[in-house]
Amino acid sequence: MKKVISPQTILYPAPSVLVSCVSGSGKANIITLAWVGTVCSEPPMVSISVRPGRFSYKLISETKEFVINIPTTDIVDKVEYCGIHSGKDVDKFKETGLTPMPATKVRVPLIKECPVNIECKVKDEVHLGSHNLFLGEIVAIDIDEEILTEEGRINYLKAKPIIYNNGEYWKLGERLPISHR
Ligand SMILES: Cc1cc2nc3c(=O)[nH]c(=O)nc-3n(C[C@H](O)[C@H](O)[C@H](O)COP(=O)(O)O)c2cc1C
Repeated sequence: MKKVISPQTILYPAPSVLVSCVSGSGKANIITLAWVGTVCSEPPMVSISVRPGRFSYKLISETKEFVINIPTTDIVDKVEYCGIHSGKDVDKFKETGLTPMPATKVRVPLIKECPVNIECKVKDEVHLGSHNLFLGEIVAIDIDEEILTEEGRINYLKAKPIIYNNGEYWKLGERLPISHR
């Protein structure tokens, strides 16, 4: 038997990322997001879903750029901090000690401590209700050399991504064997 429950947001696990953004006057900010995803391969595109009340929403709408920084499990406390404090009240780079670094294709700073940084330009915005969806084209990707395999791919075990499960943070477990391979 299945129990039918009311429509709600239960699609987990989700990635937990730090999105950096900057105002037109150069003030940088960081927001923690879980509602992010890959949405197209040619051109490579991602989506981020942001409540219009967020300080970061204002910045991303203004400059039409953002960077998705993939944090490691080592900095989970900083991820939580950036998800409960607003850039309206605090300088999150200063308070967390995270280091801003120049990006290659956008004015938004990368976060040095995150081994993967995905530079994006906003192509479209969709008003959904509580959240607005930004569709971003990936214009550059910056990766720490130490987490690359010899073939130049990301070793995700070394990247140590944080997995978000409806209020809890988790880490990657074991690779599943596939019987026909
Ligand atoms: C794990 C986690 C995931 C979050 N995901 C989202 C999200 O997908 N969209 C969103 O608008 N806010 C999300 N938030 C809330 C914002 O990060 C939070 O409101 C933040 O303080 C906003 O910062 P800002 O005002 O500086 O932009 C999330 C928070 C946490 C802790």
